Amino acid sequence: MRVLHACSEVFPLLKTGGLADVTGALPPALARAGCDVRLVLPGFPAMLAGIGPTREIATLSHRFGAARVRLLLGQLPSGVSAYVIDAPELYARAGNPYNDADNHAYADNHRRFGLLAWIAADLAVGLDPDWQAQVVHGHDWHAGLAPAYLKAWERANGRRAAGSVLTVHNLAYQGLFDAHVLPELELPGDYFQMHGLEYYGRVSFLKAGLFFADKLTTVSPAYAREIQSPEQGCGLEGLLQSRAADLVGILNGVDYEVWNPALDPLIPVRYDARRLRGKKECRRALQRMAGLREQDEAPIFGVVSRLTEQKGLHLLLGALPDIVARGGQVVLLGTGDHWLEEAFRVAAQRFPESVSVEIGYHEPRSHEIVAGADIITVPSRFEPCGLTQLYGLAYGTLPLVRRVGGLADSVIDCTPATVADRSGTGFVFDEFSEPAFARAVERAFELFRTPLQWQQAQRNAMRARFSWDDAAARMLPLYQEVAKP
Ligand code: ADP
Ligand code: GLC
Repeated sequence: MRVLHACSEVFPLLKTGGLADVTGALPPALARAGCDVRLVLPGFPAMLAGIGPTREIATLSHRFGAARVRLLLGQLPSGVSAYVIDAPELYARAGNPYNDADNHAYADNHRRFGLLAWIAADLAVGLDPDWQAQVVHGHDWHAGLAPAYLKAWERANGRRAAGSVLTVHNLAYQGLFDAHVLPELELPGDYFQMHGLEYYGRVSFLKAGLFFADKLTTVSPAYAREIQSPEQGCGLEGLLQSRAADLVGILNGVDYEVWNPALDPLIPVRYDARRLRGKKECRRALQRMAGLREQDEAPIFGVVSRLTEQKGLHLLLGALPDIVARGGQVVLLGTGDHWLEEAFRVAAQRFPESVSVEIGYHEPRSHEIVAGADIITVPSRFEPCGLTQLYGLAYGTLPLVRRVGGLADSVIDCTPATVADRSGTGFVFDEFSEPAFARAVERAFELFRTPLQWQQAQRNAMRARFSWDDAAARMLPLYQEVAKP
């Protein structure tokens, strides 16, 4: 079966968050399961540089504000084939794929991602004469229009184009644009309505996908339920409820070739569940690198995260003085909202021996923290899946998480009973509040004081497996249901 994934990021070429890890690992897992899978990507500089040798498949002129668009076909490092859309007017901008240097969304994002979706749909109906997708699988709002283009083509031509699947990685990012962009998107005018892609008078790329795709998935079973409620539905809960029969939550996996303490070239000493001594050395190396006091008695709380409202890290800010007073340490790597960056910088100045803060995006450092910390801290307000807690589990770095979304689906709270029966893997709190977070922190300190218990929990965590092959196996029946014969 020929399946085309349309997305804006892919590890290791271009990554701003977990989306790239998913689009880097799910397609190879689908290929292992027998799919003939390809990707289509916008031609950002990092994509063109990373794709290697390509051949030209098609050339188009005057599309979506680009005088000339070249569709190239190359191969990702994973061996999966990928189309890259070379349209310099739209994509030849360094840095973040969505925002300019001042962190403002590019004014032509509707055309930049409209073109991505349009090409994805056209790859089902002959843009590449040698390969036609039977299923187009889009990720997030960036590819949200693809199902709409497919349905429009089917209406105009009176026959089926391809099946479509949309995966929601984060409902909070919807791709909303003023109604006046509509004529630039080459969609039927009557799609701009409540039963279509209109969202309170604006064009919503995400709603287009949620409305027109044959199947919807999201990245954990808990999030699939949560987004059907007003609290977490971001205004789309009604539509999601009406599509409940077509919506499934499939938990993301871990690429254990990249995130594996026994193989990881980015950490100072490799280790596994039977040889945890290496982790102690990673811990010391982290303290040295971060300029923290070298101590063994109290835990290191690690954070690798986008610094946004979603991640709930102001709860950690509130708990910092208490963590430090108990002898604990915090190592944070992150970038995002200015006020959070600033607040953590100030905290690091206040507690130089106990709190280390690095503002920025740094792939090798993220591995050093996941390996060297004792706890990975993810107190999210909402979390569709979350990957850092899964990486923490693999490295014996116990996740401290809120019971929400994929965090709830992947971490089991440590109690004396769950540690002993080998199920407990982390610390889970319910209420999104400073006291609830503080109690979970306290429980982490307590368990840390009993090294045998702590090591048992580490082994439990490291034994947990989140395989992409399982996720791919759950995806396949959806494809089979909707694929064009
Ligand atoms: P989200 O996609 O919401 O940001 P996830 O937990 O799903 O959250 O994925 C985050 C991914 O981005 C992980 O691979 C994490 O290691 C990585 N990451 C986040 N912030 C940074 C950073 N500042 N430097 C390096 N990697 C980061
Ligand atoms: C989004 C979500 C995150 C999820 C990731 C990959 O960025 O915020 O929870 O893990 O996508 O699906």
